[in-house]
Amino acid sequence: MSYVKKIHDLHIVRTCSQDFARVAAESFLGALKDCDTPSPLVTLPTGHTPLGMYEELRTHHANNKALWNRIRYLALDEYADLKPDDPRLFQNWLDRELLTPLSINQDRRTGFRSDAADPEAETRRIEIWLDQNGPIDIAVLGLGTNGHIGFNEPGAVFNHVANLIALSSETRQANAAYWSGLDHVPEKAYTLGLKPILDARKIFLLVSGAHKSAILDKVMNGPITQDIPASMLRTVPNVTVIADKDALEITHG
Ligand code: PGA
Repeated sequence: MSYVKKIHDLHIVRTCSQDFARVAAESFLGALKDCDTPSPLVTLPTGHTPLGMYEELRTHHANNKALWNRIRYLALDEYADLKPDDPRLFQNWLDRELLTPLSINQDRRTGFRSDAADPEAETRRIEIWLDQNGPIDIAVLGLGTNGHIGFNEPGAVFNHVANLIALSSETRQANAAYWSGLDHVPEKAYTLGLKPILDARKIFLLVSGAHKSAILDKVMNGPITQDIPASMLRTVPNVTVIADKDALEITHG
């Protein structure tokens, strides 16, 4: 495919499930310390996968406040058409889980406005912001069972910077568990596109659980295709996959 200039091996860090969160947190902190930008720009996922890592980071914060005071945060994705106080908003979820506990104040946070009246202007606003404030120093990603990263669903276009997209039924089903039923899962969402994610200086893909094993195998060993957006990670050199044994069951046996 024309957009694939070179194929890179993904660096795999295999952990047992008990160590997954600690290893993910230590890897992220190591990348942060190696970062030579004065205010590293990070983007972080919501979902079940990073919860243990965030607990580790909250503990770390208690003794390392100076490190966290430098960080700028950019939202990876966000449900669309929700009011600012809606608990389903990813910005509110991450605020509770990480950003407030880590004292990453509002002036160091940038994200999509879910209730923006003009979605096109909203994605453009994020594009302009990234142009002036990027690139992302560290992108931490989860993996959808359909291969999405952020909310770049199967078929996502490679060179988009920010998008409003229709969520796939698989993603809505997966998210239904968090919001007591499918009816509560929005149908549309904003997402950083694949371009700023792949342009990040360092990328971590976190994958845990046997239910991710089949898709992780495709991401690592299948064709590089927009039908599996995470397979595009093999087009850049700086990706570390942190995966537990269950997630690597098919690939490594
Ligand atoms: P999960 O979500 O961590 O809840 O499995 C991952 C994702 O969809 O990105």
